[in-house]
This record gives sequence, C-alpha cells and structure tokens, in this order.
Amino acid sequence: MGRPGVDLAYLVAAVAFILALKGLSSPRSARRGNLIGAAGAVLATVVVLTTEHLAHLPEILAVMVLGGGVGVLAARRVAMTAMPQLVALFNGVGGGAAALVAVLEFTGRGHQPLGTGAATVFAIVVGSVSFSGSALTFAKLQELMTTRPVVLPAGRWVSVGTAVAVLVAAAWLAATGGGSPATLVLVVLAVLALIFGVLFVLPVGGADVPIVISLLNAFTGLSVAASGYLLGNVLLIVAGTLVGASGTILTRLMAQAMGRPLTSTLFGAFQARDATAVTAGAADRPVRTGSPEDVAIMLGYARKVVLVPGYGLAVAQGQHALRELAELLVDRGVAVEYGIHPVAGRMPGHMNVLLAEANVPYDQLKEMDQANSEMSSTDVALVVGANDVVNPAARTSPGSPIYGMPILNVDQAQSIVFLKRSMRPGFAGIDNELLFDPKTTMLFGDAKDSLTKVVAAVKGL
Ligand code: TAP
Repeated sequence: MGRPGVDLAYLVAAVAFILALKGLSSPRSARRGNLIGAAGAVLATVVVLTTEHLAHLPEILAVMVLGGGVGVLAARRVAMTAMPQLVALFNGVGGGAAALVAVLEFTGRGHQPLGTGAATVFAIVVGSVSFSGSALTFAKLQELMTTRPVVLPAGRWVSVGTAVAVLVAAAWLAATGGGSPATLVLVVLAVLALIFGVLFVLPVGGADVPIVISLLNAFTGLSVAASGYLLGNVLLIVAGTLVGASGTILTRLMAQAMGRPLTSTLFGAFQARDATAVTAGAADRPVRTGSPEDVAIMLGYARKVVLVPGYGLAVAQGQHALRELAELLVDRGVAVEYGIHPVAGRMPGHMNVLLAEANVPYDQLKEMDQANSEMSSTDVALVVGANDVVNPAARTSPGSPIYGMPILNVDQAQSIVFLKRSMRPGFAGIDNELLFDPKTTMLFGDAKDSLTKVVAAVKGL
C-alpha cells in the first residue's frame, strides 16, 4: 500500500473513531458505536503492521496475541459492577505505553530540537502520571486499600514539591534535547512523575474516584497524541486528541453531577472536612421495618410510584424483578416511573444499561431534574439498593463529603421504602438520616429476593 493508501486508511479509521464517540452518546446506539470504533482500531493496526516495515514483527505479534488474550479474558469475566476499575486499568496501561514509547524515542534519537523534546517529556510525564494514578484508582475501587481520602502529613507540600521537581526536570530535558547526562535525568523524571500520579490520587476518596479515572483517561489521550507527534503518526494524534477531549468533557459532566467544582474533587481532602460528623449517633436508633406484603399494599394502592435504582440493584441483579414489579403496578393503574440519578451505581449510565438489559422502556426513565419536579406528587418512592444518591445530607450537612451533590429528593414523596440488606452506608461511607425518617419503611434483604417477594405479594392483592 502506498502513502496515499495509508493516509486514506487512517482517515477512514479517524472517522470511525468519531462515529464511535457519537454512537456511545446514547444507550440505543452504544453497541454499534463500540463496534465501529473497534473496526477503526483493527484497520489502523493492520495498516501499521503491513506498511511500516517493522523490525520485530514476530515479537510484536506474539505480544499482541498475549495482551489481547488477557484483555479478552478480563473483559469477559469482569462483573458489571467492577467495570470502572477495569477501565482504569486499561487506561493506565495506555498511558504507560505512551510514556515508554516516548522514553525509547528520547534515548534512541540523540539530540532533539526543542519542539520534539517538549513533546517527548510531555508524553513521559503525563503518561507516567496516568499509569501510576490509574493503578491507584484500581486499588481503591477494588478495595485493595481504603476508598477514603488519604492525606499524608504535609501531603499538599509534598505534592507541590514533587510537581515542581517534575517541571524543572522536564524543562531541562526539553531545553537540552538529550545527550548522555540526560538519561539519568530522564529516569529521575519518570520516577518523579510516577510518584506524582500516586500523590495526585491518594487524597481523592469515595465517590470522587470515578471522576479522577475520567481525568486520567483524558491524560492518557494527550500523552498518546504527543507520542503520535513523535512517531509522525497522524492517526495517533487524532485518536489521542479525541480521547483527551472526550475525557475532559466527561470529567466536567461528572463533577457537575456531583455538584462540586473539579478542584474540590481533587483537592477537597486537604481542606480537612469532617466526614464523621454525619455518622455520629446513628447506631441503635429505631427504624420502621415492613414485610413484603406491607410494601405490596403501599405500592399496589398508590396512584403514583417512583422507582429509584442504585448500586445494590446491580449487585443483586434484580433488574428483571424490578421491571416485573413495575409492569404489575402499571397493570393495576398505578403511574410508574424510574428516577435515574446520573451517578447511581458505579459508572456513568450504569442504571440505564442495567434497566435496558431488562427491557425497561426508555420513556419510563426520568432524569433527576424531571423526577424531582414530580416528587412531591408521588405517593411512594421505592429506593432499590440506592443510598448516597437519595441522602438529604447532600443538601443539609455542610460537613458531609457529599454536600452539594444534587440528589433525588425522595424525602419529598409521601412515603419512602428502602430495599437494602442492612443499615450499612453506601459508597461515600456516611449514614443516611432518611432511613430513620418516620415516613420511611425498611424492607431488609437482598434486593432481588425482596423484589421477588413483593411481586408475589402484589399478585395476591
Ligand atoms: P450506594 O450509595 O453505594 O448505596 C448502595 C446501597 O446498596 C448500599 O447502601 C447497600 O446497602 C445496598 N446494597 C448493596 N448490595 C445490595 C444487595 N445485594 N441488595 C440490596 N441492597 C444492596 O449506591 P448509589 O445510591 O447508587 O450511589 C452511588 C454512589 O457511588 C455514589 O456515592 C456515587 O458518587 C458513587 N460512585 C458513582 C459512580 C458512577 S459514575 N455512577 C462510580 C463510582 C462511585 P446494604 O449493604 O445495607 O445492602
């Protein structure tokens, strides 16, 4: 294939990536978008392998088969609820790869002009931060370590000091453009950037980790774009920029959904908020519990019910039972809607995907603002495995880690039913006063079991 053929193939692949992003913007077209993006990536890979006269083709193919095999296995086996940590891991590996490419280019090429040198150190720094930061987000979400913010003694100053050292080393390398002492500085730079990635993520805790994953995703995109510049590969520049831009937009949207500026997500832990303030005194207080039959009566004789799914519904895989319950209620003449919080579950769109899997009609899904506008005219809010996204502390407790996050205002409904297994808190690790509210009924148990029992009881009404 000649140069024009290669360029045309890259153009097709770049268009495929753009169409993929467009497809991923809606659950209806997401699967198609994913396939188009994958086809673009396969095309680009085949073009590189067949036209670049690669020196180590057998080794490259062997590593691709090995890495591809691990990727396929991991993606097939991962539980839906563990998807964010898998994304974090894959993303981190991408950043690490871009950094390694840049290291090899820097050490292999000899002296480099300022522009190339700057792009090289940029790829090394940002790729390394993304690699170590993503590894730490994986550890947090996989609960290999605490999910709470970790603030080291003088952590803020250690981070600032490391960042300054990274900038100085990077500027020196870019300005001198290589040479023999540069290799040592390069190693120091990469190690410092790896340490900075860890320091960057350590103080981010609980509910904010996914926002950082998205931000690191954008970092990986930018480092890939920089390595594309070094390698003279236009497609890498386009793909990296797309990832950088879409990751940045997603980060902003997620921070907005949490109701806080990004700076507060990243540096809020340094402001020493008192996360325990809400927790105090919650133990041993009475709550009102109900049986599946009690809940069936409340729901079956209501005029309007809002169903609020959360992470626990995904854990219990109760989505089919929930849809069955909704259908039964609709058959009885009850107006039923699902209130979807943008960060319910553990990844963007988690509830939409979960409910789509159970064939819940899209028109029954109401976004948070719309669901809230109708909450006061709702008879029963049935909260299924959700907690943080309905916790009024987000509105009322300035000391709370979720303060400022917009929530589904189920406390405005006439009555509330929680399906969960215990009084344990949700992801943010804070108690929910609403569980003790006189108009709240608790139905304890696994969400799927409880829903199945409520369905049977509604059938018997
Ligand atoms: P959470 O606040 O995490 O609450 C989930 C509740 O489900 C828990 O209190 C748990 O209580 C219950 N649960 C767990 N397994 C269950 C089961 N098998 N049956 C019944 N209940 C079960 O969930 P949420 O309200 O969906 O809020 C999401 C949280 O995750 C937010 O803090 C959000 O910021 C954060 N987050 C969001 C994302 C995105 S982007 N969506 C990503 C990561 C984190 P029991 O243990 O008592 O059953």
